[in-house]
Amino acid sequence: MLSFDHVSFSYPAYAAGAAPQGIITDVSFEISRGEFAALIGENGAGKSTLCRLCNGLLKPVSGKVTLDGRDTRSVKTSVLARSVGYLFQNPDRQLCQNTVREEIRFGLEYAFAGTGLSPAELEGEKNRRCEEMLELFGLDGNRDPFGLSRGERQQCALASVLARRPELLVLDEPTTGLDYRECMTIMDIISGLHAEGAAIIMISHDMEVVADFARRCLVLSRGRLIGDGPAKEVVRNKKLLDEASLLPPQIVSLALGLGRGFEEIFTIDDMVSAVERAAGRGK
Ligand SMILES: Nc1ncnc2c1ncn2[C@@H]1O[C@H](COP(=O)(O)OP(=O)(O)OP(=O)(O)O)[C@@H](O)[C@H]1O
Ligand SMILES: [Mg+2]
Repeated sequence: MLSFDHVSFSYPAYAAGAAPQGIITDVSFEISRGEFAALIGENGAGKSTLCRLCNGLLKPVSGKVTLDGRDTRSVKTSVLARSVGYLFQNPDRQLCQNTVREEIRFGLEYAFAGTGLSPAELEGEKNRRCEEMLELFGLDGNRDPFGLSRGERQQCALASVLARRPELLVLDEPTTGLDYRECMTIMDIISGLHAEGAAIIMISHDMEVVADFARRCLVLSRGRLIGDGPAKEVVRNKKLLDEASLLPPQIVSLALGLGRGFEEIFTIDDMVSAVERAAGRGK
């Protein structure tokens, strides 16, 4: 559904006459329907930039980004936004309404263009989707988004994206800065969407979250795609992670240190079973 074909991008130079800085260099990959891919890489690797290329907020300088065969250069961003949901790295860049309910409705503004619904049907559908999201996230629709905690603002921003039921979700660090409970609430909702068939691209610095939820993992370093494979292989590949200044999840580091018999460990539960087996107590 999404394809990057030899994509390069640079932001315009600030100083007159200065050479533009290469930010994304010759990146190619494809994301199919229903995939769950994590995008990892060091700070400044170009992850957020790559996400903004997915939905046409930025256009490639060379190469081509296509969404269901449509070149992002030739389709309006508002049209692309109907099939790509994008969660900004900072939710405050996304929130702009007076109440949580209005915020979610705002996300639905262009969602039904061309569907032929009458104004009354449109209103009913917007209300229904809005209430569905408030319930899913446990949010109070009457609150001012800016009076919410960081975690609640993140949930509000995500709710307004999900209300559109996008086929592709691009999430820029959806769990950064959240406590464990908030992180799991958001990841459960994202997993639910994936189970319903949405494709997901999720930037994360949390390697535990990557190992637990993503099926595929793309590694970006200094604007180049240096790795792309099953998440469970990538998070164990120390050489590749080193190159991108990343560390494996702690439990995987421990398993790598323990060596034989501990190869297939990605979670605490895996580790408990492996230790029990090693102690002769396993089933
Ligand atoms: N609007 C912009 N104008 C000019 N340069 C930019 C702009 N946004 C980002 N950059 C530069 O592009 C590079 C990649 O930034 P980007 O935000 O894509 O990285 P990132 O991998 O998302 O980093 P982080 O993990 O810190 O979020 C950085 O060197 C950054 O300074
Ligand atoms: Mg970023």
